[in-house]
Amino acid sequence: MAREFTSVGVVGLGTMGAGIVEVFARNGIDVVAVEISEAAVERGRVTLTGSTDRAVAKGKLAEADRDALLSRVDFQVGLDALHSVDLVIEAVPEHLDLKQRIFAELDRVCKPEAILATNTSSLSVTEISVATTRPNQVIGIHFFNPAPVMKLVEVVRTVVTSADVVADVEALCARLGKVDVTINDRAGFIANALLFGYLNHAVSMFEGRYATREDIDAAMKLGCGLPMGPLALMDLIGLDTAYEILDTMYRRGGRDRRHAPVPLIKQMVTAGLLGRKSGRGFYTYERPGSPVVVPDEQTPVAAESALADGARAIAKVGVVGSGTMATGIIEVFAKAGYEVVSVTRGAEKSAKVFEAVKTSLNKGVVRGKLSETDRDAALGRINWSATLEHLADVDLVVEAVVEELSVKKALFASLDEICKPGVVLATTTSSLPVIDVAMATQRPADVVGLHFFNPAPIMPLVEVVRTIRTSAETTATARAVCAALGKTGVVCGDRSGFIVNALLFPYLNDAVKMLEASYSTADDIDHAMKLGCGYPMGPFELLDVVGLDVSLAIQRELYLELREPGFAPAPLLEHLVTAGYLGRKSGRGFRDHTRR
Ligand SMILES: NC(=O)c1ccc[n+]([C@@H]2O[C@H](COP(=O)([O-])OP(=O)(O)OC[C@H]3O[C@@H](n4cnc5c(N)ncnc54)[C@H](O)[C@@H]3O)[C@@H](O)[C@H]2O)c1
Repeated sequence: MAREFTSVGVVGLGTMGAGIVEVFARNGIDVVAVEISEAAVERGRVTLTGSTDRAVAKGKLAEADRDALLSRVDFQVGLDALHSVDLVIEAVPEHLDLKQRIFAELDRVCKPEAILATNTSSLSVTEISVATTRPNQVIGIHFFNPAPVMKLVEVVRTVVTSADVVADVEALCARLGKVDVTINDRAGFIANALLFGYLNHAVSMFEGRYATREDIDAAMKLGCGLPMGPLALMDLIGLDTAYEILDTMYRRGGRDRRHAPVPLIKQMVTAGLLGRKSGRGFYTYERPGSPVVVPDEQTPVAAESALADGARAIAKVGVVGSGTMATGIIEVFAKAGYEVVSVTRGAEKSAKVFEAVKTSLNKGVVRGKLSETDRDAALGRINWSATLEHLADVDLVVEAVVEELSVKKALFASLDEICKPGVVLATTTSSLPVIDVAMATQRPADVVGLHFFNPAPIMPLVEVVRTIRTSAETTATARAVCAALGKTGVVCGDRSGFIVNALLFPYLNDAVKMLEASYSTADDIDHAMKLGCGYPMGPFELLDVVGLDVSLAIQRELYLELREPGFAPAPLLEHLVTAGYLGRKSGRGFRDHTRR
């Protein structure tokens, strides 16, 4: 018969524990909430009441329900209070010896049939279980942060966890309104194994001054639709916890150096900069525990002051090319009020681009987002040409021709001869080094990357790629132009993948490797990232949309440039591409799209 869970214990009321208490109490289950001292109990109580008060203020919880919820929680110091609970969830800091000590103690205190669960993110549940005399009743129940919000629970069974314990815990998750994925005991399980290499890489970008914290976070939010950027997420997780997770994953997960914690993390932990919980991490918060970011010495001055930084005035813009990106970029500039000179390779191409821009603008009219007058004005601002000579008097040129270095270099050499002095020359390349293009001109200080995302009229992000020769004035101009287009321009160095692709594709590649290793299924991995981390799409959904061939090409570039062994493309990805399974566009990728 399935176990009844009428009362549970939670050990440790920090970032996770306090949230886990709330999850149980909300669902009518009595909780004995245990901490190490009266002061720690008080902190846990404040976190719980703060969270439930916010839920009441937002109208998500009735006052009476909050009171009932709080009355179900019995705060106690010391594990002895757990003698009669049916299940204990341990959420103390991520140290194996500490957890083993606590489990040995729980084994002594709790009734023999009680299930003992750990919320560990990366430690071996098996190693924790052997500290007890009942390893078959020990299991991992890994909640996600914030526990009351995130739907996912990873249920981790060891080789000795009894099947009935697994089944009972799965049923309990359903009762809590959570979605569970049940997996074996491996470092990082699904979500953290895919997440932490990415987080560590983002920290290394910040540490190496490749981009600012705001730009790294904005890039991942706006470029990938993530609920928060990686550095803000590190602050939410807690840098001490993140350090321990990375360190364990490095040691348990095959010493992949992408999991070796970036030195800055350890320094910040030592300095007490633990993230939200201590009031300061990568960002500064109103007070410890507050989610509200306040300005500090790293906060950039407002974008409007970019002009003061020497940004040049831009009124007339040339766009070279006639593909998807060029077409979108022409529309974006014309809609924002710039005079545009479109240069294509002939009248036929220009006519095609004109039609495409018109169709897209018309969609805006139909949806009520653009008036007919504004549409006509935007179209009227575009001049169509088939010769680069017409770019002699523009203030900015955006190149969006085929992704081939020789073609781009020849074009930039011509632009160098034709364009007036002081013009900003921008390339939209997504994979070629901008410096190669810049050096085809006699004015590399004026050359910058403007990496728009597809579809350009919709995507709010532009990566502004600064080479080692780009002048501050050129970068400021590029950034001011992005702002005038209503886009967020993030500045980064001239390295393969810039910010977004460099952080995104290795994660997607890791998901393929996880599938290839048969650790989990594509459906569960997609679920884990959507429900555990709030991603808009799971990795396999996204790979099928982007195209497996495109993804493989980007991953290869990253691997070739950065020589990071962990970036080597997953063999399964290569095989699928060879087999012609390219994703949605070919009808089949990781999933079969012909039958849907
Ligand atoms: N932070 C996250 O985003 C996250 C997400 C999922 C899982 N986890 C895992 O949850 C666990 C807890 O992490 P956290 O971020 O909540 O840590 P935390 O540092 O915020 O909280 C840990 C709490 O445990 C208490 N504690 C320490 N020793 C204790 C003892 N002997 N008895 C009772 N309480 C004790 C501490 O006082 C502290 O309040 C870790 O295993 C972590 O890997 C963390």
